[in-house]
Amino acid sequence: MNQLAAMGPIVARAHFANDLVEGLSATPKTTPPKWFYDAEGSRLFGEITRLEEYYPTRTEMALLKQVGPEIAEAAGPGRVVVEYGSGSGDKAALLLSALTAPAAYVCLEIDPGAAQATADTVAARFPGLPTRGVAGDFTHLPQDPPALPRGPRLGFFPGSTLGNFDPAEAQTLLSDMRGHLGAGAALLLGADLVKDAAVLEAAYDDAKGVTADFNLNLLARANRDLGADFDLTAFAHEARWNPEASRIEMHLRSLKDQTVHLAGKAFAFTAGETIHTESSYKFTPKSLQDLAEKAGWKLQQLWTDPKDWFALAILTA
Ligand SMILES: C[S@@+](CC[C@H](N)C(=O)[O-])C[C@H]1O[C@@H](n2cnc3c(N)ncnc32)[C@H](O)[C@@H]1O
Repeated sequence: MNQLAAMGPIVARAHFANDLVEGLSATPKTTPPKWFYDAEGSRLFGEITRLEEYYPTRTEMALLKQVGPEIAEAAGPGRVVVEYGSGSGDKAALLLSALTAPAAYVCLEIDPGAAQATADTVAARFPGLPTRGVAGDFTHLPQDPPALPRGPRLGFFPGSTLGNFDPAEAQTLLSDMRGHLGAGAALLLGADLVKDAAVLEAAYDDAKGVTADFNLNLLARANRDLGADFDLTAFAHEARWNPEASRIEMHLRSLKDQTVHLAGKAFAFTAGETIHTESSYKFTPKSLQDLAEKAGWKLQQLWTDPKDWFALAILTA
């Protein structure tokens, strides 16, 4: 399947280099979060999902288990499930168990290893279900529904990955998914909700330092894949709640004046300057509905957990 412009390692490296050069040349410096996810980044993210402080995964999975039958009823039978950014695939297994006679499962993942591992896990759990893992970038979705297996599609976008995009980008992404999924589509969206700042900040700055390692892996990856010379001991992980923008921001703070070399260019950092490496926007049910509607979707049903920490929403085209 090539509907996602399946990305080979050389092409991925060239995109990674371009994005880093562009982001480190900007003021303030910023990099797209998708480059966190090489094999080591996916491994570290898996560790994050099991941390005490990281409530989103366990909260979303419990909610998915609880409302699975209602999701199945809202989605209807025979859906082709298309997951965007699958990670471990644990949530896909829960969803597929709940749905009535799913017709096929496809996952689209920027980490080729995760795409394959998820497809293999799902195939082993659901023998007879046509299953495919595709390595590629879901921010470049062709509006080409016939390239997916036939049948009404149910997009699945869990983990609040939508929150990694600013509101205009998130709207474009949801709208592109609507085109990608085609007529009669539905989309099951997992979104993290606004809550106490201390809970949010702890989730992105855990005591064991796994999230710090995940953030710093971006620089380690640049050294590994692009021959950059980041000194990992000269940058520190930071997570801060930005209430005006309703987002957690992850940064890497330069601990001294320094110059880093990458792709034949030099990038100067002053002590204290940061690279903004990720935003995680937090939603309210109303802000999520508004965003979905701006992207041309209709909110069919929305569920939250008992603490109102996380939402699952089913949207229809
Ligand atoms: C926040 S994690 C969520 C993982 C999983 N869906 C979950 O709910 O636990 C984001 C996932 O999306 C993938 N990803 C991030 N940006 C992507 C992109 N632009 N295209 C495809 N996959 C992407 C990452 O590799 C990672 O597996």
